[in-house]
Amino acid sequence: VRLGVLISGRGSNLQALIDAASDPTYPAEVALVISNKADAAGLERARAAGIATLVLKPKDFANKAAHEAAMTTALQEAGVGLVCLAGYMRLLSPVFVAAWHNRLINIHPSLLPSFPGLDTHARAIEAGVWLHGCTVHYVRVEMDTGPIIVQAAVPVGDDDTPDSLSARVLEQEHKAYPLAVRLIAEGRVTVEGDRALVKRAGV
Ligand code: GRF
Repeated sequence: VRLGVLISGRGSNLQALIDAASDPTYPAEVALVISNKADAAGLERARAAGIATLVLKPKDFANKAAHEAAMTTALQEAGVGLVCLAGYMRLLSPVFVAAWHNRLINIHPSLLPSFPGLDTHARAIEAGVWLHGCTVHYVRVEMDTGPIIVQAAVPVGDDDTPDSLSARVLEQEHKAYPLAVRLIAEGRVTVEGDRALVKRAGV
């Protein structure tokens, strides 16, 4: 499966996918990285791995529809079969989400459906939850919703700060995202309505 990865910043999850794909037995490869910001550090990660990159800035387009149409065209031209949001900080329109229905996934730093949106680690600490984590899910129009493919949980300690908790979750993100992509690429994920059925024996 050829992956298109959309980023806005650091790109550590992109790096995890690049690293996973460096194993010749991994069933997916990163074909194209698109950023909405020219200074996204993740672009350098892609370039270092010899992966095609594209910067598409929303302000260079007449409107959101035109910006997203350019993304879809570029992804199609690159032969992308699965689009991975990896710290892409813009909400996608219903048209884009429909165009990539069940071929568009996201990683979110909480155990959804808890804590959609921003500042998840501070909110988890504030709520006093014992367990926090990350979720890889198919994208639906409403932000941070959609069929869940993989989750990983971490404990929350009394002394945790948003930063310490974020680091613990990020370590799991870097395993969960490549795992979710592998499960999809191996045909082990089917979507039935609002849920994904995942054949996860052995993972
Ligand atoms: C990650 O925590 C991801 O879950 C969230 O945004 C962050 C992106 O980090 N959606 P990176 O750019 O992959 O390092």
